[in-house]
Amino acid sequence: MARIELADLAHAYKPNPTQPSDYALRPMSKTWDDGGAYALLGPSGCGKTTLLNIISGLVRPSHGRVLFDGKDVTDLPTEARNIAQVFQFPVIYDTMTVYDNLAFPLRNRGWKEAETRKRVQQVAEMLELSADLKHRASGLAVDAKQKISLGRGLVRPDVAAVLFDEPLTVIDPHLKWLLRRKLKEIHHELKLSLIYVTHDQVEALTFADQVVVMTQGEVVQTGSAQALFEAPEHTFVGYFIGNPGMNLLPCTLKDGRLMLGDLPFSIPAAAAGQIAADGANITLGIRPEFVETCDAQQADALRATVTSVKNMGTHFLADFRLGQYAVAAKLATAGDLAPGGAAYLRFPQQRTLFYVNDKRVA
Ligand SMILES: Nc1ncnc2c1ncn2[C@@H]1O[C@H](COP(=O)(O)OP(=O)(O)O)[C@@H](O)[C@H]1O
Ligand SMILES: [Mg+2]
Repeated sequence: MARIELADLAHAYKPNPTQPSDYALRPMSKTWDDGGAYALLGPSGCGKTTLLNIISGLVRPSHGRVLFDGKDVTDLPTEARNIAQVFQFPVIYDTMTVYDNLAFPLRNRGWKEAETRKRVQQVAEMLELSADLKHRASGLAVDAKQKISLGRGLVRPDVAAVLFDEPLTVIDPHLKWLLRRKLKEIHHELKLSLIYVTHDQVEALTFADQVVVMTQGEVVQTGSAQALFEAPEHTFVGYFIGNPGMNLLPCTLKDGRLMLGDLPFSIPAAAAGQIAADGANITLGIRPEFVETCDAQQADALRATVTSVKNMGTHFLADFRLGQYAVAAKLATAGDLAPGGAAYLRFPQQRTLFYVNDKRVA
């Protein structure tokens, strides 16, 4: 296992990049702790695979260095980096048995047969492949084959890290759910450093201790599921995490007052300086879970119109029109909310966040 450091890293596939958009990865420095379970989460095309391939050595970064435990490996090929990588689709030897497939990475490293057997059996057990060990891989269904790929990634205890690139893509939804729990257990048991790439927030949040959120070649936040939910550092995290995502309402300044459309809103003291700066692009963010309905008399009541109300079984999902904005709320009860009717909303102060140029200031 190793601590992996990306120092002043950036990557452009094209030569002579000039604009930020020429970079698949914008300049970043980032450390992945030894033994951690990380998820790398972001939409398709944001640079996840590029980042993973730079760590494994399949791609050489155009700028910056990659360090394993302080040692510069930027110019080392994949084979010399001691990394296991699992891809979207099974990479296995079809003509070999499941056992031989799992044993291959160990035999390759000169392991004795007795130790190999012990380790292969341990990993097969964890992935529920024990009954298939004697079978040829070619006869198995695609999800069993992908489990073999996962096993091959996990079988060596001495790797610097195991990298997964959307490994459950070919797995059916039910097994997917079981496997990502399993991977989390395996992480605790085998103490491997794992980086797990996915575009699926549920997958990322159930698997990882730390989720690294990326958009457009940039890491915008690294944090626990709770931190990403309660305190998104970037509007993208607010929007991307959650279902539905955070309500993001662009605000303006008028005569030193913050305006939510026509409605004045008090500026939190902590953010007053940054919010009042010239040309600040200000956004108010509040998660649907924290929007409340209230009485018209309440001092901070915001008058809105109900657009729709849906009973989701565990809660109600209501959509409102608040001036020029659409606002979603998850409510325990629907009360007398009806489409087209009036409603009063409030945004509790401690749950209302402010962003300047997409970065959180309060
Ligand atoms: N081999 C390549 N050559 C040129 N551009 C590439 C190559 N691989 C990826 N890209 C571009 O780099 C960006 C990031 O891609 P990728 O790392 O595959 O994202 P993700 O894995 O998040 O979907 C995309 O714009 C993609 O088109
Ligand atoms: Mg990818």
